[in-house]
Amino acid sequence: MRTVVCTELGPLDTLSVEDRGSPVPGEGFVVVDVRAAGVNFVDGLLCQGRYQIKPPTPFVPGGEVAGEVTAVGLGVAGIAVGDRVIAFTGFGGFAEQVAVPALSLIPMPDTIDFGQAATLIQSYCTVLFTLTRRTSLAPGEWVLVLGAGGGVGLAATDVATALGGRVIAAASSQDKLEAAIAMGAEATIAYEEEDLKTRARQISGDGVDVVIDPVGGRHSEAALRAMGHLGRFCVIGFASGPIASVPLNQVLLNNRTVVGVDWGGWTFKDPFANRELIGELMVMVASGRLDPTEPASYPLEDAAAVMSGLIDRSIGGKAVLVP
Ligand SMILES: NC(=O)c1ccc[n+]([C@@H]2O[C@H](COP(=O)([O-])OP(=O)(O)OC[C@H]3O[C@@H](n4cnc5c(N)ncnc54)[C@H](OP(=O)(O)O)[C@@H]3O)[C@@H](O)[C@H]2O)c1
Repeated sequence: MRTVVCTELGPLDTLSVEDRGSPVPGEGFVVVDVRAAGVNFVDGLLCQGRYQIKPPTPFVPGGEVAGEVTAVGLGVAGIAVGDRVIAFTGFGGFAEQVAVPALSLIPMPDTIDFGQAATLIQSYCTVLFTLTRRTSLAPGEWVLVLGAGGGVGLAATDVATALGGRVIAAASSQDKLEAAIAMGAEATIAYEEEDLKTRARQISGDGVDVVIDPVGGRHSEAALRAMGHLGRFCVIGFASGPIASVPLNQVLLNNRTVVGVDWGGWTFKDPFANRELIGELMVMVASGRLDPTEPASYPLEDAAAVMSGLIDRSIGGKAVLVP
């Protein structure tokens, strides 16, 4: 089977596609034929050695996949060959097949296709965790989403809208803003051209209630200042690179709160609570309350180019590798 291999942490152009033997499912494991592997910003950081976790090389990147079960190991109950499943693999997903613990599999809802399913878990769980576990969102509240045309941004727009929030999407290009509008955003701010704080306050009337910030850098402080009374600023990531330092008087004013979000860390600390979160997410997807965007598809050979495109901002929305 073909698989993407990272032999050294560093430039993405050192990634290669290799032929390896097909995995055999050990006890408690199943083998999944990968129909789509979600590519996330973090995959590129991992391969470049710029993430907090530095995996030993060689390794196969790819944190989440959707596909069909092709082999079942001893001791596995309730899963059969042919089942359509989602697997949050952590590593190993950029391949034609991957072996995963049966207990970690998630049945794929019929309402979505393999591409949508392969780009669901990381971004949607992060946002659902943010808006239901780390803070809350009341119907009618304003949510300012930075990087709204990116993976987390589109998921935030979808989830916030489904929870009854009113989304202001902020992004760098018209294409990305249009993608956020299609996902349910009510208003947009082109934050490289318009004044983020002023526009967000104009649109929301009294300041926004929640900020979702996966971008960091210079927009963070403007977004913090755009929040009204009891505003919650959710720190999700730093895709732009710099980590903003904000004046704490801006947190004191209006009784605002800064909320740290580390969904990945929480899944290790409390895997049972995470299963519950995933269950809620799947109900929202299966019932049509959430409508994940259709990702752009690329072959395995384009893994490095897609990860580069996410990191240099040229690829917006969601992307999958289709082996
Ligand atoms: N805390 C958690 O639990 C958690 C979970 C998942 C992801 N994350 C983090 O969230 C961040 C975003 O992930 P994602 O999947 O949404 O990534 P993505 O799809 O690549 O989107 C990131 C967005 O950031 C914006 N951006 C601004 N400056 C940028 C720059 N210099 N380089 C790249 N992007 C830039 C881009 O939007 P514009 O071009 O519109 O500005 C881009 O669309 C990452 O740092 C990731 O590690 C955190």
